[in-house]
Amino acid sequence: MKRKTISMCLVGGLALTLSTCVWADGNAFKIGLILPMTGPQASTGRQVEAAARLYMAQNGDTVAGKKIELIVKDDTSAPDVTKRAAQELVVSDKVNVLAGFGITPSALAVAPIATQSKTPQVVMAAATSSITEASPYIIRTSFTLPQASVSLADWAPKNGIKTVVTMVSDYGPGIDAEKFFKERLTFNGGQVTESLRVPLRNPDFAPFLQKVRDLKPDALFVFVPSGAGAAVMKQFLERGMDKAGIRLIGTGDITDDDQLNDMGDGAVGVVTSHHYSAYHPSNANKKFVEAFQKANKGLRPNYMAVGGYDGMRVIYEALKATKGSGGGDALLAAMKGQIFESPRGPMFIDAQTRDVVQNIYLRKVERKDGQLYNVEFETIKDVKDPGKNR
Ligand code: PHB
Repeated sequence: MKRKTISMCLVGGLALTLSTCVWADGNAFKIGLILPMTGPQASTGRQVEAAARLYMAQNGDTVAGKKIELIVKDDTSAPDVTKRAAQELVVSDKVNVLAGFGITPSALAVAPIATQSKTPQVVMAAATSSITEASPYIIRTSFTLPQASVSLADWAPKNGIKTVVTMVSDYGPGIDAEKFFKERLTFNGGQVTESLRVPLRNPDFAPFLQKVRDLKPDALFVFVPSGAGAAVMKQFLERGMDKAGIRLIGTGDITDDDQLNDMGDGAVGVVTSHHYSAYHPSNANKKFVEAFQKANKGLRPNYMAVGGYDGMRVIYEALKATKGSGGGDALLAAMKGQIFESPRGPMFIDAQTRDVVQNIYLRKVERKDGQLYNVEFETIKDVKDPGKNR
């Protein structure tokens, strides 16, 4: 892009001075989008990038007189690669904002760079509660696992589920989900009889599921990151655990809209709690889903896409509010406190915590118009991250 700007200056002819060329480049507003475009979390990268590009297509690529430039870097979800990409984006590309971050370790690896360079870091996907505390320059537009987990722990004991085994991916968001689900379920009179942690990389769920089958709880609560839910569902059903009377529940990560339609009718009836469903019945969401599918060969947007879409909105609105002239601190200030209607429902960036406050929905997988969807049946309004201020 830089090369293009300079060559345009040269082609533009002698009338253009060098300072005009420099001015043209200075007029760009650069967003460094670091995502897992390959590797086990590649679906997250694809969803977030597609949503960011959709936002730009719908809202133009010039904001407050600045030309928006999106620089996408693939970090393969390896945190050392994320860190190097962020350093390069800040030092060489001189980006105005760092964004993306498919998994928690990647978001955390960049936090010191955001702080040192005073660059706002918009976390669009990762969801461990503590991420926003790693740098005062972090704003989050995804969700937190405590936010999603506690609502399900309120619902379960009222619906015949007293004993639960938890099974989570063994890293930040999984440990958050396990802890907050267990704490709230116990408070509500239920019991977590066993807590199982599965490795994040190359997980083999079979021995863990066998153990759950032997323990025979009322329900199995699961968190795995986006992209891994279908494997859990397949093995859960293959072992006939549903027929053995064990219910599958979890955060909406396991019935990910990106994979749900391919899970088959065995998924029907699974109850989860989350902040976004492609089936959310609002006009804003219907428009979003339709436009996203049109631009991406029918791909259904998932909760990662909505985090990317809303993250771009937060950046655009901050740039407008600072009239295109603010540095990192001014942009950050303009990101705090934003309130708007997202495809997920109402959404608010808490100015104190820089974290997202949003509705959490209880949903049940149902077949609608021939397709599987997470159909919302209860709304818990304006949920703050329960992981803050404890
Ligand atoms: C995370 O690593 O923070 C993460 C990744 C995928 C999810 C949720 C959380 O679905």
